[in-house]
Amino acid sequence: MEKKPEWAYSDKVKDHFENPRNVLNDEGAYNADGRGIVGNIKCGDEMIVAIKVDKAKGIITDCRWKTYGCASAIASTSMLSEMAKGKTLEEAYKITAKDIVDELGGLPGHKIHCSVLGHDGLRAAIDDYYRRNGINRTP
Ligand code: FES
Repeated sequence: MEKKPEWAYSDKVKDHFENPRNVLNDEGAYNADGRGIVGNIKCGDEMIVAIKVDKAKGIITDCRWKTYGCASAIASTSMLSEMAKGKTLEEAYKITAKDIVDELGGLPGHKIHCSVLGHDGLRAAIDDYYRRNGINRTP
């Protein structure tokens, strides 16, 4: 059997790159409950993640994002945005970069850091939600 090249992307990565879910198109009109902006020092790319929260239940009802990052960052954050919706804030906080990569069916080794961008952005958005609502996060 032919060995997959190291740079090969899974069908799920290609799908989420070509059809990204939950893109934040009009940030001004979105009226987020929490918003995080993070950057990746390795490549200089940037990510915005914005969430809406059912405050009574502490559940993320919507997760949007926008990035200047690469295909791997786009696919990873698209997948993450699907994974985060319907989860409690703490469940979403605990989604790891590895969880995202596993859900995508893998990423080339040198692209793993791209999945961290959305992950960090979501955590920053949740932290922002807690800050806005005067909640001290107790992990
Ligand atoms: S190279 Fe910057 S996010 Fe992928």
